[in-house]
Amino acid sequence: MTDKRIAVLTGAGVSAESGLGTYRDNGGLWDSYDPMEVASIEGWYRNRGKVLDFYNMERRKLKDAKPNRAHLLIASLENDYTVDVITQNVDNLHERAGSTHVVHLHGEVTKVRPENTCNDEDGFSERSVFDVGYDEVKLGDKAPNGVQLRPHIVFFGEAVPKLEQAIDLVARADIMLIVGTSLSVYPAAGLYRYARAGVPIYLIDPKEVNTFDKRIHQIRKVATEGMEEFIALLKD
Ligand code: OAD
Repeated sequence: MTDKRIAVLTGAGVSAESGLGTYRDNGGLWDSYDPMEVASIEGWYRNRGKVLDFYNMERRKLKDAKPNRAHLLIASLENDYTVDVITQNVDNLHERAGSTHVVHLHGEVTKVRPENTCNDEDGFSERSVFDVGYDEVKLGDKAPNGVQLRPHIVFFGEAVPKLEQAIDLVARADIMLIVGTSLSVYPAAGLYRYARAGVPIYLIDPKEVNTFDKRIHQIRKVATEGMEEFIALLKD
């Protein structure tokens, strides 16, 4: 065990080999659904039923998915390092693979909350977040406070309550690893810039990700193969 810290930023690509689709690849989720309708705060107020149905579908998909070798290898880094996983994913595959410190920047699909909480009305308190597992949530399903339940997801157009925590973890890292994200959604996409000078940054993705940042060492492989290569590099 070293006293080094690794910050791992993940996106949909790390779960692709578990059968969960990405958002922006060809055939990705946003080819079939308009994110402004199903994953934005405006979309929620326009048509709550449609948004609830979309996340009911996402919960059903997750129920049948399993962590893949990339999730398991990320969890295994904890044998030698202090590891902070910062994920944009709303699935629970990092936790199911054994990662013990996971920050969900964009929320969690297995959780819900009354629509008037965890926002600026209550100072982003997570006190009334409920676990629903893989169950459906319908229009008319209410929290004990009588308010409609909504997915515990950071919709487009909403603040990212865990951003400060994520920045702090990246700033403390000795090694930064990015896996399976197109780096197209801010503020998550800019997080790696908080890595201290001299901290090596690796990015695993089969496609070239345009960062224009010469510090980033790209491993052009799918997550499972890229993680094997990353771990071999750590041992060099
Ligand atoms: P994207 O769909 O934008 O990007 C997925 C990335 O994964 C792409 O760069 C792919 O090349 C890569 N990829 C595909 N298959 C892969 C594999 N097997 N191994 C490794 N990489 C692979 O997804 P994100 O960047 O995660 O937000 O998207 C960010 C946010 O946009 C999401 O959290 C979601 C979405 O709208 C919310 O819903 C709030």
